[in-house]
Amino acid sequence: MIVEWIRHTVTPAPRPLRRMGALHDLIAIDARRRRHPRAWAPHLRATHGVILDCAARLERWDTVVVIGAGLTADIPLVSLALLFRRVVLVDLMFMPSVRLSAMRMTAVELAPCDVTGVIEAVRALPEGAELPAPQGAVPEIDRADLVISCNVLSQLPHLPARWLGQHHHLDEAALEPFRRALIADHLRVLREAPCPVCLITDTERQEMTADRPTAAEDLLYGVEPEVEGSAWWWNIAPKPEQRWLHDVRHRVIGGWLKGYSMRDEAPTDVGPGPAHGGAG
Ligand SMILES: C[S@@+](CC[C@H](N)C(=O)[O-])C[C@H]1O[C@@H](n2cnc3c(N)ncnc32)[C@H](O)[C@@H]1O
Repeated sequence: MIVEWIRHTVTPAPRPLRRMGALHDLIAIDARRRRHPRAWAPHLRATHGVILDCAARLERWDTVVVIGAGLTADIPLVSLALLFRRVVLVDLMFMPSVRLSAMRMTAVELAPCDVTGVIEAVRALPEGAELPAPQGAVPEIDRADLVISCNVLSQLPHLPARWLGQHHHLDEAALEPFRRALIADHLRVLREAPCPVCLITDTERQEMTADRPTAAEDLLYGVEPEVEGSAWWWNIAPKPEQRWLHDVRHRVIGGWLKGYSMRDEAPTDVGPGPAHGGAG
């Protein structure tokens, strides 16, 4: 805890994002990864594997855009930097270690960006005003040969929803359509990319008691990405990290994004798919 507090104090970060807890969240997830190296290893390996497999199936390796790369713990950065001329990392902010990597590797560029387009609007929202609509956009997506959305999709509503809960006293039921809209909008942006898209995301949270699930939660609020690839369990919080008596695990899917649907609605197909060389 003390180490996390010191990191929070000394790490530079834009003041609004710091106030909203973005730096705190990054440091907390990094600290959890360090506390549970054995439990997290299969998930990190699987994420690396999916990314490299997708990258290997392309026909052009000029630009790759990686969304959610604030820590790069789950991204095979060195391999991507050898393979592509440009590796554009996109996140709200970057930890100093990632900044250092970008200085060392000429291919790596940092593109700080809120890919939902709502965070500043939420922070400045007047009391009682309507919630902002998602304005999703991703830097350099038009020039990309591959876009990777890496363990970020389920996280997109987290920061703005927490702020709205704390400062506008909105409860979970009021926030649910907002959360769902942010997640769906990110998939819309990915769907419109002019190149193949690799999506890696957690989809479900389970609490486990003696190897049996005793509680489950949909992390995507009824949005269902269709991914051609693999799926695995991420042992994100072995007990007593989150629950004294339960392990917590997330189901993760990773591979080519093919489309998505909202539960009870018709599927939306992805335009170009991995046709630029990707066989899935
Ligand atoms: C679970 S972490 C993923 C960790 C990561 N893939 C890595 O670099 O090791 C979620 C990431 O999503 C980023 N994120 C959350 N909301 C975002 C937004 N609106 N725009 C861009 N990045 C966002 C966070 O800053 C964080 O780095």
